[in-house]
Amino acid sequence: MREDSFVLKGNICYAKTKDQLSVTDQGYLVCCQGVSKGVYPVLPEEYRNLPVTDYQDMLIVPGMTDLHIHAPQYPFRGLGMDLELLEWLDTHTFPEESRYKDLDYAEKAYGIFAEDLKQSATTRAVVFGTVHVPATDLLMEKLEDTGLVTYVGKVNMDQNSTDDLRETDAVTALDATAAWIKETKGKYQNTRPILTPRFAPTCSGPLMEGLGKLQREYGLPVQSHLSENLSEIEWVKELFPWSSCYGDVYEHYGLFGGQAKTVMAHCVHSSDTEVELMKKKGVYVAHCPQSNINLSSGIAPIRRYLEEGIPVGLGTDMAGGANISMFRCMADAVGVSKLYWRLADQGKRPLAMEEVFYLATKGGGSFFGKAGSFEEGYELDALVLDDKGIRSTRTLGTKERLERCIYLAEEGKRLAGKYAAGKKVI
Ligand code: GUN
Ligand code: FE
Repeated sequence: MREDSFVLKGNICYAKTKDQLSVTDQGYLVCCQGVSKGVYPVLPEEYRNLPVTDYQDMLIVPGMTDLHIHAPQYPFRGLGMDLELLEWLDTHTFPEESRYKDLDYAEKAYGIFAEDLKQSATTRAVVFGTVHVPATDLLMEKLEDTGLVTYVGKVNMDQNSTDDLRETDAVTALDATAAWIKETKGKYQNTRPILTPRFAPTCSGPLMEGLGKLQREYGLPVQSHLSENLSEIEWVKELFPWSSCYGDVYEHYGLFGGQAKTVMAHCVHSSDTEVELMKKKGVYVAHCPQSNINLSSGIAPIRRYLEEGIPVGLGTDMAGGANISMFRCMADAVGVSKLYWRLADQGKRPLAMEEVFYLATKGGGSFFGKAGSFEEGYELDALVLDDKGIRSTRTLGTKERLERCIYLAEEGKRLAGKYAAGKKVI
């Protein structure tokens, strides 16, 4: 029997659309060769020969996608939250990231990060490394060992950073990046390279032009940051005065959707021109609510993006966000959407529980293709949630238990099982 063909039994919940939650109590989730064959109230005859794991009264939900996370920032998570973006980068982030030129340090730090990510609700992640190729290779190896599915980026930045961290010049940066792509593309089963210009202010025109060429040559996806902070946006206008908006800078160099599958973190203060461009080019938004709170960035208009049909997922942006919990991320997304509705635009109703659950699973998962759902044909990522430890006098239905897990994930709840791309991870 193949290890990626099995049946899971329990109370099964998944998002079909952002408004439609499917719930099957005591149902059967069938996985054949790593791919979902759907959820059934009674196990169909044709699957009776597959091994069944009975998770009894526990919840079974799709794995979550963290669409934006910085692996090297894990050591200072929860620290230094009293600054805005640009000062925070100079004070906390760049000094920490410069430590990854030391492989012994990277070994320790990425070891801890990979172990913790494995134990979290995240089954897929789009990850920033640092500018250092050897440390990024190490990160990829460690993530591959977890069984999780990831895109990992060697960061590019050749200006406006510390001497310690900045790449020497565009040519050196591009040579190193091309060598890294050749070495890692197709090397792993679950870990793939993604082009990662850090953000426009730290990337020269020649660097971004070269990255655009690499994108076309290797067909890689792209990740970066966009319109996170007001001072950052002003700075981009000064650095690239010809641009019609911040996103136009990436677009100019072929790093903004279309053939280049792209995810941009934040989009808190995107102009109408930028939103139009994101929509036209199918650029994903990685909504990172906790980071936007911690760095006083603002509130991203996620309801608007959903109404416009822009693809959206959730990100922790750790260490802008303090932790790697996608449960906390969902609760924060609901919370900030309520503040947006109350304080900024009463035409934009808050996000509902079903909607953030969709964003954390199928919304972000779609960046990887068919992931984040239990519909037939989806790669099977699943979490088994044992919520017995959340003590209450109430007897709740499955949907209420899921809602409670989003808010009380850290209270006595245990991840009793985890599967990624059809393989058991924990
Ligand atoms: N913009 C450029 N670099 C970063 C980073 O490391 N974190 C966040 N939140 N925004 C950035
Ligand atoms: Fe970030």
